[in-house]
Amino acid sequence: MAAATVLDESGEPNPYLLGVYAPVHEEITAGDLTVIGEIPRDLNGVYLRNGPNARHPVRGRYHWFDGDGMVHAMHFENGTARYRNRYVRTRAFDAESAAGRALWTGVMENPKGNPAGNTRGIPLKDSANTDLIFHRGRVLATWYLCGSPYALDPLSLETLGAETFLDTLTGDFMAHPKIDERTGELFWFDYGPRPPYLRYGVVGAGGTVEHLVEIDLPGARLPHDMAITENHAVLMDLPLFQDPEALRHGRYKLTFDRGLPSRFGVIPRRGAAGDVRWFEAKPCYIYHVVNAWESGDEIVMDVCRVSRPAPSGSGSPLSRMLSYLKLDARMYRYRFDLRTGRTSEGFVDEEQNTEFPSIDARRTGQATRYAYNVTVKKADTNLFDGLVRYDNVTGERQHHRFGEHRYGSEAPFAPRDGATGEDDGYLVTFVTDEREGTSEVQILSAADLTAGPLARVLLPRRVPLGFHATWVRADQLR
Ligand SMILES: [Fe+2]
Repeated sequence: MAAATVLDESGEPNPYLLGVYAPVHEEITAGDLTVIGEIPRDLNGVYLRNGPNARHPVRGRYHWFDGDGMVHAMHFENGTARYRNRYVRTRAFDAESAAGRALWTGVMENPKGNPAGNTRGIPLKDSANTDLIFHRGRVLATWYLCGSPYALDPLSLETLGAETFLDTLTGDFMAHPKIDERTGELFWFDYGPRPPYLRYGVVGAGGTVEHLVEIDLPGARLPHDMAITENHAVLMDLPLFQDPEALRHGRYKLTFDRGLPSRFGVIPRRGAAGDVRWFEAKPCYIYHVVNAWESGDEIVMDVCRVSRPAPSGSGSPLSRMLSYLKLDARMYRYRFDLRTGRTSEGFVDEEQNTEFPSIDARRTGQATRYAYNVTVKKADTNLFDGLVRYDNVTGERQHHRFGEHRYGSEAPFAPRDGATGEDDGYLVTFVTDEREGTSEVQILSAADLTAGPLARVLLPRRVPLGFHATWVRADQLR
């Protein structure tokens, strides 16, 4: 591998370009894989995971969020498994292909002079590297700073183009839209550094944008996720944002204002801007919502909550980047009382640093008993060293540790064919071994993580650590 892919232009070895994070360059397809144990025959569908994978020598300093989107997928069918990886062919990908080099610098540099990246003209590369959402037969690759959702074929991983929802999408699309499988609706938001700071929308079952409203915010914010319940959506105004003064000078600098509350905007699913009810809570940052639902007059929302999103201390730009980026979250529950307007909040688990939650996606917006999170290792970089299952009813926690120097990915819940209960299925994750430089896929029983993998599928290549994953059931592929 060329040295340029390991070092960025700072000259300092960047851990997010090395070892378990180092990009891979070949797109391959592989069947006939060695299996330790047995792949359950009632596990049928595709596990897909997105992540950053720098394709060209990096301009300036590299940040983990900067890499080009690459999807790694495992297709399970009647006890067999096939691996495939492909880049997401975004407009930026094509432009850099034509140029034969990187055209954008990343978020660690002043992006002035970069080409525009999204509809709002943000001069950062829309890499579609963040999450994957299954919607109407296609998988949508999304970007955390809001870009075009790119549609992929869930089996071939071929990029089908930017999803426009039959030419009804105006503006951009955040990383983690929510799908209500019962209604076929998709809920999303679009945010940016200039007004309107936040827009909230609904794509109807027919595949077009049917609802779009501007949400009034006091300034530019950095919302990452949202929630839905049976009748509402929940949006966030959290006190971690781009420093307005720096922004006026074209620079991007994060600031966390402890003097401001966290605010949660509850809006009827098809509500007008004036229908938003704001609930205040202690200051924090939230990357990811676990799930939310209605319970009597209350909305219950479980999240992975970061209480100190802006670590103190200075140091080199690289060390600042590492400390800002480090996930340090706790499972946390909010209750928003729609009758009184009051918020109550508290820890579900104050001890463990857990993130990248998954649930049975068919129950998004309805009460769920189980959540499956990754556990985050105490280290300078983000390493997922195991999985934990939370039981909301008994409080029981089950663990699966990947083992020394072995790190996993977000592990979506994959229901068994004909599943009856909420945990009647499997968790699927890539696991990469830091010392061996190898990867495998592990399949666990969602009902009993402590039993260890039911099957380990050995891969012919290392899968770099990455971001979000999804499971597409076989019945959705038809
Ligand atoms: Fe995320």
